[in-house]
Amino acid sequence: MNTVWSDFVQGTDTLYLSRALRFDHAFREQYIRFLCLDGDAGFDALEVGCGPGALCAALKSWYPKANVTGLDRDSSFVAFAKENVPGVRFVEGDACRLPFEDASFDLTISNTVSEHVEPDGFFGEQFRVLKSGGVCAVFSSRRGIHVEADCLKDDEFERSFWSRAAEKDDSFEKYAVCRYPMNESQLPAAMEKYGFGQVETDYAVVPLTPDDPRFSGSMARRMIEAVYREKKECLSSVPRTLPGLFTAYELERMDKRLEEKFALRYEQLEKGEKQWDTSVSLIMMIRGVKP
Ligand SMILES: C[S@@+](CC[C@H](N)C(=O)[O-])C[C@H]1O[C@@H](n2cnc3c(N)ncnc32)[C@H](O)[C@@H]1O
Repeated sequence: MNTVWSDFVQGTDTLYLSRALRFDHAFREQYIRFLCLDGDAGFDALEVGCGPGALCAALKSWYPKANVTGLDRDSSFVAFAKENVPGVRFVEGDACRLPFEDASFDLTISNTVSEHVEPDGFFGEQFRVLKSGGVCAVFSSRRGIHVEADCLKDDEFERSFWSRAAEKDDSFEKYAVCRYPMNESQLPAAMEKYGFGQVETDYAVVPLTPDDPRFSGSMARRMIEAVYREKKECLSSVPRTLPGLFTAYELERMDKRLEEKFALRYEQLEKGEKQWDTSVSLIMMIRGVKP
């Protein structure tokens, strides 16, 4: 039983919602165009480091004939995915020792995983389990654009709280988060180094702007909820990750303020008082073919 990521890095519901938005139907064309797969063929796809399974769910909806498998080493993510993502097989395992035969997949894909896994294992294992002619696709988040609504901005008390927390927080180091970062030229170069050919790159843009009328009311609420959950999860994890650093009064005050800010943001949305706050994710996509 390994629940390190879901307990200490990103919680299951928060991660699922964030990725369900990222791979929502509204943005699917850019992924499909880049992946350039034959949707009529019943190919075998493996998502490495699938987390709670949002990309697997999207893949299954984009390519209904595909056999999709998701693998992650976090037991809670895999249990959640098995329960919530129908039509996909989920397996607990290590990306550096994939529990699959050589040449058993037509596609391997990952989203925001390459930076956390040692490259020999990450690329080498995907190369091994891909069939000749199979595609390895790596999605990796780049710096996006984040503009908060005025009502969500931190006040002086919150800024000081988070700066004290940041000084003491060593979770990234402790849990090997982002231990193997690669920039926009190193990623495609790594793909080539590990034997893939026909390497291509592109970028998907996911603009989450609740006030943009092209999105439905429920999608707009989910966008705000994604931000709320991320902040709520971050705050709730503080007593666990930084025990004793803050008083109960400080934690309660932070929580009360968070609830009030988001209640106001939802109210503005309901009343149509536009804030034009936005969170734009930029996702680098790299694609290589096993010769
Ligand atoms: C940033 S999360 C991304 C999850 C998912 N791809 C998504 O976008 O929602 C990184 C994921 O990689 C998984 N992971 C990290 N190292 C791994 C390894 N060696 N083997 C399998 N999974 C791993 C973590 O458990 C986590 O689910």
